[in-house]
Amino acid sequence: MEQYIIKGGNPLVGEVEIGGAKNAALAILATAIMSDETVTIENLPDVCDINVMLDAIAGIGGKVDRIDAHTVKINGSMICDLSVDYEYIKKIRASYYLLGALLGKYKRAEVALPGGCDIGSRPIDLHLKGFRALGANVDIRYGLISANAERLRGTHIYLDKVSVGATINIMMAAAMAEGKTTIENAAKEPHVVDVANCLNSMGANIRGAGTDVIRISGVERLHKTEYSIIPDQIEAGTFMFAAAATRGDVTVKNVIPKHLEATTAKLLEIGCEIEELDDAVRVVASKPLHHTQVTTLPYPGFPTDMQPQMSVLLGIAEGTSTVTESIFENRFKYVDELARMGASIKVESNIAIVTGAEKYTGARVSAPDLRAGAALVIAGLAAEGITVVDDIYYIERGYEEFDRKLALLGAQIERVSTEKEILKFKLKVS
Ligand code: EPZ
Repeated sequence: MEQYIIKGGNPLVGEVEIGGAKNAALAILATAIMSDETVTIENLPDVCDINVMLDAIAGIGGKVDRIDAHTVKINGSMICDLSVDYEYIKKIRASYYLLGALLGKYKRAEVALPGGCDIGSRPIDLHLKGFRALGANVDIRYGLISANAERLRGTHIYLDKVSVGATINIMMAAAMAEGKTTIENAAKEPHVVDVANCLNSMGANIRGAGTDVIRISGVERLHKTEYSIIPDQIEAGTFMFAAAATRGDVTVKNVIPKHLEATTAKLLEIGCEIEELDDAVRVVASKPLHHTQVTTLPYPGFPTDMQPQMSVLLGIAEGTSTVTESIFENRFKYVDELARMGASIKVESNIAIVTGAEKYTGARVSAPDLRAGAALVIAGLAAEGITVVDDIYYIERGYEEFDRKLALLGAQIERVSTEKEILKFKLKVS
């Protein structure tokens, strides 16, 4: 089983190129099948989740041509099966975006019901509420969501909770409905805007993405486009936090600084120096870090996908901090793993009380999910001694060449899969 092995203590120094946003790419790949012409998507992150989504599209008959690791051409004209197999939804919940895309284009779709996951129950009631409001019959039977409609008619939809997935899925279905649809209390994440921009480049008529009211005028058909995914704000934030945790000096390149405002603000609050350039942000952490309070919120608030990384950083900052998780109900599973590295964190309901320790010490830990796994790697980079991270397939779902990019910044980290490789690494760094 693959693992990361890390010898901590090296400050990260240098520049790192950030890849395309995984969570934008997963949705945009689904929109690509809504045209019967060829859609070219560029700046795709080469990570497992993207490959599963491409397999799901091919699985229903979509034509998928991988031009290179970061570019794909998709043609939805050959789609012959409107039922997305459970094997895909089991691997990535985001394959439910095919529901909105197929319903919008063919007025019929069937997708396995996604289960819960490591960070919470992850209901999709708001997605289904939106589809029904557009006039679709939606049934859940035998673990399958079946949706169909004679016609989809534009309507007014108010989302009871801010939901990225529901906003995007409803936007896709409404893009080819008859008439006008308004989505109120919509999610404002950059990847919602990216999906809207991609759909508009295919001939859709979507206004207001990035605000909490999105207005969509349905169109009959969507045409070809060439579209490049926005940079991944969470990958960027993860490297920024790794720089801070190791007292380093790192410039993350190919980013949109505005998308990182909440992350940057917290780094400034705890004592880092930040330099913002047009498409890069430099983080310098020369002074000891100090405590703060943070609450995860929908964009533009502090992102829940940076919550584990924040706790790791505050775990070696001076003073006592609080981290409040307001989005998901079970996103502190990494705390027990981190405690094995010397963290002092007490979780009460959805609040983690973090008492800064002097340092982390290396240990063998297991990644409980994608972002918590990346956070444990950050802890290992800052720790004294050797850390081995198990279950790194979680991390590789969303981070492309994570170990290689960190090594280029001076980290002593390797991806290993045998005891012999672990021994060799230990001899090399001793
Ligand atoms: C997306 O998940 C991301 N995943 C998540 O990133 C991210 O944490 C989340 O948005 C919040 O930013 C993808 O984009 C593939 P939500 P999503 O719908 O769309 C509740 C990662 O690490 N809710 O915005 O599923 C839900 O339970 C992943 O890359 C309902 O109640 O998140 C949660 O409490 C982890 N009913 C809240 O809304 C619904 O129908 C926000 O969830 C839908 C959601």
